[in-house]
Amino acid sequence: DRYSLLILPGDGIGPEVMAEVVKVIDWLGAHRGMAFDVTQDLVGGAAYDAHGVPLTDATMAKAQAVDAVLLGAVGGPKYDVLDFAVKPERGLLRLRKELDLFANLRPAQCFDALADFSSLKREVVAGLDILIVRELTSGVYFGEPRGIHADDNGDNEGGRVGINTQRYTSGEIRRVARSAFELAKKRRGKVCSMEKANVMESGILWREETQWVHDNEFPDVELTHMYADNGLMQLVRQPRQFDVILTDNLFGDLLSDAAAMLTGSLGMLPSASLGAPMANGRPRAMYEPVHGSAPDIAGQGKANPIACILSFAMALRYSFGEGAAADALEAAVERVLAEGVRTADLMGPDGGTPVSTAEMGDRIVA
Ligand code: NAI
Ligand code: MG
Repeated sequence: DRYSLLILPGDGIGPEVMAEVVKVIDWLGAHRGMAFDVTQDLVGGAAYDAHGVPLTDATMAKAQAVDAVLLGAVGGPKYDVLDFAVKPERGLLRLRKELDLFANLRPAQCFDALADFSSLKREVVAGLDILIVRELTSGVYFGEPRGIHADDNGDNEGGRVGINTQRYTSGEIRRVARSAFELAKKRRGKVCSMEKANVMESGILWREETQWVHDNEFPDVELTHMYADNGLMQLVRQPRQFDVILTDNLFGDLLSDAAAMLTGSLGMLPSASLGAPMANGRPRAMYEPVHGSAPDIAGQGKANPIACILSFAMALRYSFGEGAAADALEAAVERVLAEGVRTADLMGPDGGTPVSTAEMGDRIVA
């Protein structure tokens, strides 16, 4: 098989961390016989500087044509003054929207060597490996009607009302549920779906439709349901009870930020956004670290490349079906951390000598 990949390093530390991923790709090509067709292009401020837009139509067309997009980070102080329409993050939003990436995947994985960085006790998080699947293109952040209106009914102090609408169609729920079940099949085979069916109509529909997809299409995957408030409590009480958590846009926003704190540094957190299957059966997909362009450390060789490397491991697993290579790459990260190799963001209070971005990449490849 040949795998096509569009690499968009972006701004700030984006190109620095992406250079380390390219080392991994080259190694897999040379030593595991994998054939990657890699194209690099501009996004964000870098694209604005060259073309006056944060994402050109030509780049968008390339993104539509490849198996997977790998993105570094966009933005920086230099671009804060730009009009909204050409701001760097608009390039990211255009990619997500036009690829219709409705399933956002945020793993929370706790490497033993970093368990003391967690907000929770080591005993609670050691060995943690869960995946939150958040619906990304619908729900209360997009539902109509929305807006702030005058509401002068006589007894409303201030005279205004703010409205958002939580709205989910059965089709929107079913497609993201399918993603979650497919992912669970490649993991430990368990999905826990979270909503508030006790107080929300959309929650009742969410529960019924996820159950329908389970019963009709994925009877072998275990499905449980939990109210999202209890779910968040369970996530910090006993996170290892979960495998895949499936939830809507709003609850997923909260759950995934809380889950991030279970695992430590921002420099460690990968993500993926998946859409519908393409003609070749692979899902439309974009992989990116959770962190931004980190202008405070850009250009200094200090950035931790692991979030971006683990994002590529997700591409291996979820786009290319190379689960064994993904496992090997994650094991290499784990081993390097266990050997005490640390970028500056992973230094404890007792200090030590941090390695550079490039050294961390070299150690992982080695
Ligand atoms: P940030 O994630 O860039 O940085 C937050 C803090 O974490 C900084 O102190 C930074 O040095 C550190 N950090 C982040 N990634 C790191 C890594 N790999 N290794 C070591 N340290 C790391 O978030 P911030 O400062 O809020 O935003 C900076 C710029 O990035 C802004 O222009 C923002 O709009 C953009 N941004 C872009 C995102 C994206 O491309 N997906 C996401 C978040 C922010
Ligand atoms: Mg959030």
